[in-house]
Amino acid sequence: MRTKIKDILKNETFSYPVNVKGWVRSFRNNQFIALNDGSCMANLQVVIGLDTDPALVKKITTGASISVDGIVVASLGQGQKMEIKAEQLTVLGECDPEQFPLQLKNRPSLEYLREIAHLRFRTNTFGGVFRVRHAVAFAIHKFFNDRGFVYLHTPIVTASDAEGAGEMFKVTTLPFDNAPHNEDGSINFKEDFFGRATNLTVSGQLEAELGAMAFSEVYTFGPTFRAENSNTPRHLAEFWMIEPEVAFNDIYDNMDLAEDLLKYVISYSLEHNREDLDFLATRLADEEKQKPQNERSELGLIEKLQFVLNNKFERITYTEAIKILVDSPAYKKKKFQYDVSWGIDLQSEHERYLVEKHFKKPVIVTGYPKDIKAFYMRQNDDGKTVAAMDILAPGIGEIVGGSQREERLDKLMQRMNEMHIPTEEMYWYLDTRRFGTVPHAGFGLGFERMVQFITGMTNIRDVIPFPRTPKNAEF
Ligand code: 4AD
Ligand code: MG
Repeated sequence: MRTKIKDILKNETFSYPVNVKGWVRSFRNNQFIALNDGSCMANLQVVIGLDTDPALVKKITTGASISVDGIVVASLGQGQKMEIKAEQLTVLGECDPEQFPLQLKNRPSLEYLREIAHLRFRTNTFGGVFRVRHAVAFAIHKFFNDRGFVYLHTPIVTASDAEGAGEMFKVTTLPFDNAPHNEDGSINFKEDFFGRATNLTVSGQLEAELGAMAFSEVYTFGPTFRAENSNTPRHLAEFWMIEPEVAFNDIYDNMDLAEDLLKYVISYSLEHNREDLDFLATRLADEEKQKPQNERSELGLIEKLQFVLNNKFERITYTEAIKILVDSPAYKKKKFQYDVSWGIDLQSEHERYLVEKHFKKPVIVTGYPKDIKAFYMRQNDDGKTVAAMDILAPGIGEIVGGSQREERLDKLMQRMNEMHIPTEEMYWYLDTRRFGTVPHAGFGLGFERMVQFITGMTNIRDVIPFPRTPKNAEF
């Protein structure tokens, strides 16, 4: 039976027989194999006898998969407590060193590894990132499960545009070169698969709200799609979002829940992914050294995570944020590319100024102008702002977007009419406000942005196994 490398390294006992299987990371002096099976960052050293058949030795190359039966013994070499003395070695799959694109010795760039994303899991960096990604997903489910939330699977194909931003991918089986038309020239979606126009979901929120009206506390965690043409280190066309929705919560409860969730996940991964995070911290520190002095971050990855964990998030209103920005030296020296005045949508340079320069910690901004936010947000008494909340994180910008919802039917209908959102088609959503409406609130956490924050990876394409971005759907 195969033993995982992680368990062998964890175990402090020696002189017992094991079978290990994995991929060769390196092979030195025709004797020392560094073997990795993905169970942990560390490699296991396998030592083969000098009398091993030369034909077999030739097949032990970087990338080859092998099975080894041997004895766990104390290691004389540096850097490891134990190693395997091989008694029987089989090459399961050869790997031609001339053809293998992963040249582990000369540190391939992240950009290059993105082009060979089908192989990049086999590097230390991506091994670490994706083990952390797994742990973060698990911690999120654990957080909600421990608090009695119901995990609701909201649909991926929908007929509505939850965010009203029109950034949707269409779903259709109509032939695009010969689609049926109505008399007025528009496409006749009655003949389409679902008998109407459908798209990939941009958010599970509206359906989550329906669930919250029965279970009180629900969350969704699923793939989300946005056809926005944003080629940035923080945008994907396909990403995963976590959306809790809680009946009887107001905007302040909503902020507390989001802050608790973020801190829980950080502390979970500090506790369970330390080896991976230490490696990623060193990687990030090396990357930072390439930057000019004044652009380097003051804290290392681990210190940053601990700092966020140990400090309360700053809470300010949008109006206060605008004032801070207008009064800032950066604004006065015309350092911002986009102008600042009440009513603007905060640009990422503004968000980063607030979190990285001014407060130096995560900031929750509330009370945004209603004109730059979605129709479902609760209208404040000033008639100008809504009970929205965005959480801005250092190095990332917006990581969470949420709000208290407009639970008053008349106000919601009025806002939908103003924003030209069809109220008849959305009867099912409005029914929640007709039949036992309650104050409620929720938010969306961008899963990849959370993983970026924890791993310190600067590009979102490096924290999802196979990124989908404009002009890119390889693998
Ligand atoms: O702020 P957003 O658009 O909010 C919603 O969709 C609400 N329906 C959520 C809710 O209240 N239930 O998106 C929420 C979060 C953002 O803060 C960001 O972290 C992430 O989703 N996000 C993206 N992540 C990667 N790529 C994109 N294109 C993203 N767009 C949003
Ligand atoms: Mg948002």
